[in-house]
Amino acid sequence: MDVPVLESEAEATTVAGAPVPSTTDPLWWRSAVIYQLYIRSFADGDGDGTGDIAGVRAHLGYLKELGVDALWFTPWYASPLADGGYDVSDYRQIHPAFGDISEAEALIREALALGIRTIIDVVPNHISHEHEWFKAALAAGPGSPERERFWFHPGVGPNGDGMPTHWVSNFQGETWTRTTNADGTPGEWYLHLFTPEQPDLNWNHPDVRKEHEDVLRFWFDRGVAGVRIDSAALLVKDPELPEVTGDEPAGQHPNTDRDEVHDIYRSWRAVADSYPGTRVLVGEVWMPDPVRFTNYLRPDEMHTAFNFDFMARPWKGSELRESIDSMLAAHAPVGAPSTWVLSNHDVTRTVTRYGREDSSFAFATKRFGTPTDLELGTRRARAAALLSAALPGSLYVYQGDELGLPEVEDLPEGTRQDPMHFRSNGVDPGRDGCRVPLPWAGDHPPFGFSAGTDVQPWLPQPEDWGRYTVDAEAADPGSMLSLYRAALTIRRTLDGDESFRWLDSAPDVLCFARGGGFVSVTNLSDRPIDLPEHEEFLLGSTELVNGQLAPDSTAWLRAQH
Ligand code: NOJ
Repeated sequence: MDVPVLESEAEATTVAGAPVPSTTDPLWWRSAVIYQLYIRSFADGDGDGTGDIAGVRAHLGYLKELGVDALWFTPWYASPLADGGYDVSDYRQIHPAFGDISEAEALIREALALGIRTIIDVVPNHISHEHEWFKAALAAGPGSPERERFWFHPGVGPNGDGMPTHWVSNFQGETWTRTTNADGTPGEWYLHLFTPEQPDLNWNHPDVRKEHEDVLRFWFDRGVAGVRIDSAALLVKDPELPEVTGDEPAGQHPNTDRDEVHDIYRSWRAVADSYPGTRVLVGEVWMPDPVRFTNYLRPDEMHTAFNFDFMARPWKGSELRESIDSMLAAHAPVGAPSTWVLSNHDVTRTVTRYGREDSSFAFATKRFGTPTDLELGTRRARAAALLSAALPGSLYVYQGDELGLPEVEDLPEGTRQDPMHFRSNGVDPGRDGCRVPLPWAGDHPPFGFSAGTDVQPWLPQPEDWGRYTVDAEAADPGSMLSLYRAALTIRRTLDGDESFRWLDSAPDVLCFARGGGFVSVTNLSDRPIDLPEHEEFLLGSTELVNGQLAPDSTAWLRAQH
């Protein structure tokens, strides 16, 4: 194993003539631009229609040119892919369709040589039903120590026919599945907050705790710079298994955000801190209360967590202003930077969401046939890209958003894969529409995603995606890609500055100053506005009209300071 050294790369100041950002900065994560790489759909190096590590390695130059500091890989481990890899059967193996461990090591090394760190996904709430532990638990039967790593429980009623609780799944429907005993009789039930293929782990069990710390070490030893923690608030359950009433005091819900969960992250932080260079913990924490949310970011817990509040808000000045204020205020006492996220592999693509009458995001309101004005959505997404990149903290870019890809809502019948769609009986379109393979070049599918023209990507791409290819957008100074490249270059000049100050403006205009005289102004009103006084116009999401900033636009300026 050739282990990359995170703390001594500063010597390599150029690679192929391009400057390499320092990888030695212990605070790199506070202002980093992190590209979310959904490996199945990024680039297919071996021509089987599925994205893979070889495809990523072949396109590291693209990521370098885009200007990102780190890659977050959604799960790439061995898995039956019942939930796109969030059902891990072995953390120490890469899914064969994606590559193998030595390729992962090579990727981590090659990315780092370009100044790009690697963050991996860890899914501690559950594992795959094909994981050795779960297979052993089923085989060992009721009352066995193997079952104690999970939540096996007898059913309610004389025949045990009733589920132990009526907790509702995050994917709709039931959270318990009944097993069958070796003699064919109906057996115990097991808990799964997601699909039956994702049994929940029992975090009161020492094996579960130790195994996850070992998994962290396994990957930190291979040079990864951090982990994204899936469903981070769900791990601890009330062993009494009470029903959810909705009236539970904070920290005492039966399965979400229980106070005891924080101990787990304290011990993970200790593991991370035992490594040289800063290895970061990034939480996926869906939590409406900003204080309960930032509890996860206390100095001895995670470094950052996704700010979904901003992502879920509609395109409205007052809403976005309130979100920025409340997030910055909630983060300040714990000393953590906020994150800024416009989308990810679970939610509606940004240009589509912002093109709708209701431009907020909620899983419950995702429906087929929602009218969408893509031109308007794209215009707003451009403005939002600059707005979010201007805010203090780290920035997440979901692959394809830099190309302005829309949600694919008309996937052909039989091609959808997402359990969210099936568990809603087809009412929820699911998340496949934001996971369609990237278009790189050419006029026809697979648009350079796979080498060769006759390969069928695992999810079909729309025929008209030629206009969104990397090649087409790279050649067009007005494209989303050109905007992102320019924005991330300018953002780098902020150089880790964390200052933020609102400037006077109308309520539906978001205007603020950062260090070095940098000013960002977003016009969410319905008429053009004058720009604040400035020395230099740096970048705009639209062209100025008679010197004014048009509606649904952001401009970046340099003012005297
Ligand atoms: C959150 C992940 O982002 C999502 O894709 C997954 O389905 C659930 N957690 C369950 O692991």
